[in-house]
Parts: sequence; C-alpha cells; structure tokens
Amino acid sequence: RSDGTSDSYEITQHQADLHILPGLRTRAWTYGGSFPGPTIVSRSGRRTVVRHRNELPQPVVVHLHGGHTPAASDGYPVDLVMPVSGGGDPMAGMDMPGMDGMPRMSGDIAHGERSYTYPVNQRAATLWYHDHRMGFTGPGVWKGLAGFHLVHDDEEDALPLPRGERDIPLMIADRSFAADGSFRYPAIDPAMHRAGVTDAYTNGVLGDVVLVNGAPWPVLQADRVRYRLRLLNASNARDYRLELSPQPPGGAAFVQIGGDGGLLARPVRHDALELSPAERLDVVVDFSRYRPGTKVRLINRFGSGPTSEVMRFDLSPSGRPPADDSHVPDQLSELAALDPGKAAVTRTFAFQQSEKGGWTINGELYQPGRTLARPKLGTTEVWRFVSDFHHPVHLHLEHFQVVSRNDADPGPYDAGWKDTVSLRPSEAVEVVTRFTDYPGKFMLHCHNLEHEDMAMMADFVTE
Ligand code: C2O
Ligand code: CU
Ligand code: CU
Repeated sequence: RSDGTSDSYEITQHQADLHILPGLRTRAWTYGGSFPGPTIVSRSGRRTVVRHRNELPQPVVVHLHGGHTPAASDGYPVDLVMPVSGGGDPMAGMDMPGMDGMPRMSGDIAHGERSYTYPVNQRAATLWYHDHRMGFTGPGVWKGLAGFHLVHDDEEDALPLPRGERDIPLMIADRSFAADGSFRYPAIDPAMHRAGVTDAYTNGVLGDVVLVNGAPWPVLQADRVRYRLRLLNASNARDYRLELSPQPPGGAAFVQIGGDGGLLARPVRHDALELSPAERLDVVVDFSRYRPGTKVRLINRFGSGPTSEVMRFDLSPSGRPPADDSHVPDQLSELAALDPGKAAVTRTFAFQQSEKGGWTINGELYQPGRTLARPKLGTTEVWRFVSDFHHPVHLHLEHFQVVSRNDADPGPYDAGWKDTVSLRPSEAVEVVTRFTDYPGKFMLHCHNLEHEDMAMMADFVTE
C-alpha cells in the first residue's frame, strides 16, 4: 500500500510447506508463505513501514540488512516479536553453545506484531531482510526467514542498465534436507557442546545443495541480451567463487556495477566473483557474447560435487536476439571517497575464537548492552578488523569503504560502499565510515550466522 509519503507492507510470518525437492514437502518458516520472502521495494527518500505479524511458534526479530535505520527499527537481537499465540518464553532455548553464563536480558518486547519503520534516506541498493533473534539467527534464516528489499532512486533510474525482466535478484543459499524433505540443521546438544563435539556447528553450518531463490539448480530460459543479476549470498556460512561455464570469448564474463551499498563509481570487470555470507554483487552479464542455444552454467569453484553447481542459463536458439538498448556506462555514479586521514578515531576489533568454544570480538562474548565503541555522529572513523579465521564482518547503520587489506590495496571485490567485508584468516582489513545520523545502539558482528549466534557480536552506541 502507498500513500503520499510512505509505502507500507504487511508480512505474516508463518510455517508453510514448500515444494523444493521433487515429490517432497519442506516445512519452512516463512515471510508470507514463500522462500525467499516477498521482495519489498522502496524509493529513496520515501518512508517504508513493514508490519510483521508473528504466527511462528518462536519469538522473532526482523533486521533490514544494509538499512540506514533508526535503532528502534533496526532489529536489535533482544527486541523480540513474541508469537501471536501467546506462549513462547522470550528466553526459550537460550542455551546455545557459547552462550553459557550470558545474562538473560530482554529488550523491547512486542506481542504478536511490530511495525518497523525505514526512512530510506539512502541510495539505491540491493538490501535484504532476515531474522536476527539473539542466539537463533542461524536456525531462523536456515528455516527460511530471508527476503530481498530493493531500494531505487533517480540516479540509478537514469542509467541505461537492464531493467524489468532483465533485472534479476538471485538469493544464493545452501541447505541440507532430511529424508522427509525438511530442512536439516545440525541439532544443538549442550551436552555434546560441553564434550567439545560441535564441529558441524562451531565453524558454521554448510548445506549440501545450493538453492537459488529457493530452488535447487534452477534453469532460466534467457535471451541473448544483457541481464543485471543482483547476487546475494544468504548462506549461513558458505563462501562462493562464481564463474560462468563456458566463459564467454575473451573472458570478463561479469561486469560489476554495484556492491552492498549500491552503484560503484565505475564498472569493474571480473572472470570470477567471490561472495562471502551477506555480501551482494550487482553484475551485468551480456549473453549476446555466446552462440545461440548455449547452456551457460553458473558454477561455484569453492564447492565440490553438488555444491559446485548453482544454476544454468539456457540461451534462446534463435539467431536474432530481441532488441536490447541497455548498456553499462563507463561512469556509473559520483562516489566521494572518504578520507581515512580525516578520521577522528581508529579502533581495532579482533575477531577470535575463545578457549571456551564461543567466538569473541576483542576477547568478549556478546552481551546485550555492553558497548564496545561510542562513535560521535558527524565524524569519520577508521575501523581495523583483525582475525584468526574467516569472518564476514558486518556493520549495521552505516555503509563503509574498504581502505586496505594487510596495509596494502583493497581486494578485487572491495570497491564502493559496503556493509559486509570478507576478513580472511590472519588478515587485517581497514574500513572508513562516517556516522551521519540516528543516535542509539547498533551492532557490529560476524555474519557467519553460527559465529554470530555463538556471541561474535558487539554493540556500538552512536551519540
Ligand atoms: Cu544481516 Cu546484523 O545482519
Ligand atoms: Cu545488518
Ligand atoms: Cu566469524
């Protein structure tokens, strides 16, 4: 629904039987009965209000990932929406590995429903929304709680990029299935945890099938024209290195036009795309570079067996492709580089495993309300992330620019505004951001969802 100043959506979260595997039903947790959930579309500068009703058996929290959102609607992990059915202890099941001794703190509790208000004072970008309940984000997202939220603006609309049916969001997420078709998430057994048997969980849960928009190995009948593919890695913990097979003559199959936070200044050409959890890459692929009738596979070089297959584009056999007046201009956007030299503060955050089995930031297991940083609104800061393992590091509230990796240049997938950066083992990554508005409590965390659930999160408070 829309009126003069805002767009509103209503979403009921409920269980639904999906048809993902032939002949089987998958009982999922859904936004509105589908996986992915309904795509929300916003216009930059116009408020979007999303009312969520919780008909699931457990409390939920909704977070708009990449949203520049006031704290009250950001989906802080203890600001729960309790089930409409009543019942559901807010602290139920808060006995996940790494959460021993965590205070049973509750936040702003809503009963049955909550409206999240997004001012959308931000540029066009591919955002997504997902569950963010403390200690349960991994299982919640795995069971199906994720969807796209696209923001459009005039700057992007003025460009001749592929649009309409040739602008396709692709949510890539791996899953495993039990014999009856249900999603299989490794059981969390505290006794096993105490005995140190948590490998399937501690390093992040991997599925054995890759789904694209909820379907295994889908095939798109495509014309030999340009397509814009908005790739999102919505997997709990899996990393991808995506390639087209065969490669088009001359390589550089992907022309990257955007990242997490919208358009790049200029397009970047890639033979392959690396995407760690929660990252987005917005690319244009020109299928007119292939012969009519070619079957082009999107493959994952980091996978093996079934996880190396993502999807396929079956190109039309017709020798005369339909009209295509799209192209990728050399200049996409005016993008001011933030100057790390102007930073008021440089802060270091170490992402490490604790001896006790949880995952920590600066040696601390997450505790709601314990603040690791207090940035001042209106100032620029440099944040340095260092690690012992692979961690996709995500910042709420503001997008950032990558300044350096191991004190050298940023990597090939670091261009533009980002909200999640892939931090490799023993690496140091510096990012620069500007805290513009919205005072309050926000989060910095690892987006390997099992690391996140095992306490690799921190609060920061803007003031
Ligand atoms: Cu997509 Cu705090 O997460
Ligand atoms: Cu987020
Ligand atoms: Cu991590």
